[in-house]
Amino acid sequence: MFSLGINYSQVHDSSACIARDDEVLFAIAEERLSRAKHDGRFPALAIRACLEFAGIRADELDFVCQGWSAPRVAFLHDLGCYATGKQPADSQALLNTTRHFVSMWHQRGGENRFRQLFGPTKAQFRFVDHHLAHAISAYAFSGFDDAAVLVLDGRGSWEASSLWLGRGGSLEPVWTIPWPNSLGLFYAQFTQYLGFQPYSDEWKVMGLAPYGEGGLNLREFIIPDDNPYRVAPKLLIGSESAPSAGIEARLGPKRAAESELDAHHKNLAFAVQDACEQAMMTLARAAVEKTKCRNLCLAGGVALNSKANGKILASGVVDRLFVQPAAGDDGVCLGAALAPCLDAGGKLPVRKMRHAYLGSEISDAEIQKTLETYKLRARRAADSAAAAAELLAEGKILGWFQGRMEFGPRALGSRSILADPRVPEMNAKVNNAVKFREWWRPFAPSLLAEAAEEYLESATDSPFMILTAQVKPEKRGAIPAVTHVDGSARPQTVERDVNPLYWRLINEFGKRTGVPVVMNTSFNLRGEPIVCSPTDAVRTFFSSGMDALVIGSFVVEK
Ligand SMILES: [Fe+2]
Repeated sequence: MFSLGINYSQVHDSSACIARDDEVLFAIAEERLSRAKHDGRFPALAIRACLEFAGIRADELDFVCQGWSAPRVAFLHDLGCYATGKQPADSQALLNTTRHFVSMWHQRGGENRFRQLFGPTKAQFRFVDHHLAHAISAYAFSGFDDAAVLVLDGRGSWEASSLWLGRGGSLEPVWTIPWPNSLGLFYAQFTQYLGFQPYSDEWKVMGLAPYGEGGLNLREFIIPDDNPYRVAPKLLIGSESAPSAGIEARLGPKRAAESELDAHHKNLAFAVQDACEQAMMTLARAAVEKTKCRNLCLAGGVALNSKANGKILASGVVDRLFVQPAAGDDGVCLGAALAPCLDAGGKLPVRKMRHAYLGSEISDAEIQKTLETYKLRARRAADSAAAAAELLAEGKILGWFQGRMEFGPRALGSRSILADPRVPEMNAKVNNAVKFREWWRPFAPSLLAEAAEEYLESATDSPFMILTAQVKPEKRGAIPAVTHVDGSARPQTVERDVNPLYWRLINEFGKRTGVPVVMNTSFNLRGEPIVCSPTDAVRTFFSSGMDALVIGSFVVEK
């Protein structure tokens, strides 16, 4: 049985994945192939890549599962919100809702587009409720037999937050909080107010938060402990022309993009992050209480808040925590693809996700061809891990392009930029020369799993950089470039059997320097998706201040 899962909302993060029976074979976000960040168009390129990887034609698919409810469900819910005054209704908002509905309905949620592009197929097309797809993407990859599963995002077709109970491979809904009482909405609207892109740049607010101080009261906008939380949509949702009007009326004019950040902005970032953490903690407690289960799974865009995730784990409210690394809407395709497993009382496979290397792999032959096309002088390394470690120890900034590409927003040692974490100014150096991004956004460490307890106070099993932990005070001086201003870090613990090449690189670096930790950030320039092809890698390498590129067995130096 072949099942294709897709995420396609026409809004952001379109993606596709293919599963054979109950095993995911391949997954990729459309943005990696189209090169348009957060691409929300029909994931034609991603679907083609899935079919190619599985070696099948579209007519051999059994299911095409889309992780959204049928368009009319969202449309009717939105009309209800406008009619009852839960959501401010202006003519532009109504027009947008109607346009979106008509477009999705016309396409039958993408089915027509699929047939147009890929020809006839015997596959059954179905809609999978958005939050169910998120919930499957968390529970089925957690390895927990029993789990409370929280889905927290901006919105699904009508849902904002939901709780599920996973038990023995089945997944039952417990409760749902409908849009617009949405934690994702709360965070996104303040992200916008602070001059960043909503539903995309929440990271920046999270990174800025430790530079602010407490004291700003946001209870008018959110009550983070009201069984479980309550936001004020009427204040948060502005109009098309003034999206932050409600917030501006109370907190003053919004920050212009790229303008100076003052104490008010930093304190507001602190307050927003703090409220989100409190709400997530309340939700975690409520989930455990309701389900009597102390294993917690998280998915949905709000679950990308690594700081809040780390606090939930460190609080002891739960025994074990699994956060789907592709917690945003790209990850919905994983759950959608597995949804047919639940047919006729069937069970989901429940396996522990040990890595996110679900994307494409490029052979050395293909890499060599690319390097020759661009007439680049490259040397072949006998051991690319040792060669990379040597360069890193010399203070070089490296592009590292190896193996299958990661699925989800983080680079985890396949499409990464690496540097020496011991050098305090490395953070600024990589920022200025390579990433061209905001000064306050921290870089993350990849460290040997064996060294995690030596360096970290918690989150010692953290393969996906989705949990923040405190660096042990005595180790903060050893890895200053990856320790945030508040002593935290967002670690990736690398296990030898999961990614032997990357493990070896870090180990070789450790042998040379005594520190088995490297600084790891995604291989892309600011505003671009992570590199996918060797051409993307070469172009990014030469458009930045990177010193060397270790790509497959080849080393290119400037
Ligand atoms: Fe979502």
